[in-house]
Amino acid sequence: MIKKKIIVANWKMNPKTPREAAALWDAVRRTARNLPRVDVAVCPPAVFLGLFSSPGRGNVFIGAQDVFWEQGGAYTGQIAAAQMAACGARFTIVGHSERRALGETDEQVSLKTRAALKAGLTPIVCVGEMTRDSAGAFFGVLTAQLQASLDLIPRTAASSLVIAYEPLWAIGRNFREAMDSQTIHETIIFIRKVFADKFGQEAAKRVRIIYGGAVEPKNIAAIMSDGRADGVLVGHKSLVVSDFTNMLKSANAV
Ligand code: 13P
Repeated sequence: MIKKKIIVANWKMNPKTPREAAALWDAVRRTARNLPRVDVAVCPPAVFLGLFSSPGRGNVFIGAQDVFWEQGGAYTGQIAAAQMAACGARFTIVGHSERRALGETDEQVSLKTRAALKAGLTPIVCVGEMTRDSAGAFFGVLTAQLQASLDLIPRTAASSLVIAYEPLWAIGRNFREAMDSQTIHETIIFIRKVFADKFGQEAAKRVRIIYGGAVEPKNIAAIMSDGRADGVLVGHKSLVVSDFTNMLKSANAV
């Protein structure tokens, strides 16, 4: 089965101005539209969501970085999944480790993932261990996170999810400190097995499992070929136009 690879740009709380955001988006879109073998999801801060021209045309999409689980009402500061969708989003990151560090729980991630699906967004559900211990306790951490974060997801929707595996110790580092491709491959197999136990073999085969954490021009091709990742989630390098457009070209050539 051919699954289209997905490259997700997580801009986090960057850039500073709408003008910079629009320029970055235009550069990504211009490059990506000539790269038919990848889908690209750009996730800007929510305030910039409405700025971009023709999102969702071709293979370049907009994603949110988070959504709230309620559909509307008195929730100051929150944004509903349907509101993100109405402003052009087709994807949303859910349960990023930087949000979990601010107190987000697996249960909330599960509520948000369900709300995103209801609104027609594709959730990109993040999991990842804080440290790798030689005794393998991180396998238990990943299993518990996956099971609880996907607790409310019906079997019928499972294969449409994207699971982003981001080991916390690799985030924000450089390519030398990223996880090596062999370990990424092994971990993706493990995640697929946990997914299969919960949702069945067929869904596990179809779900896209991507890697994030210090993905750079130098390691993207190996992560996607040897690591067998169905895509990548890119942080700091998604803000550097020349690096990110080179990464898209590498991904398209894998
Ligand atoms: P870096 O690519 O900066 O390591 O960030 C990874 C990440 O957190 C993407 O969501």
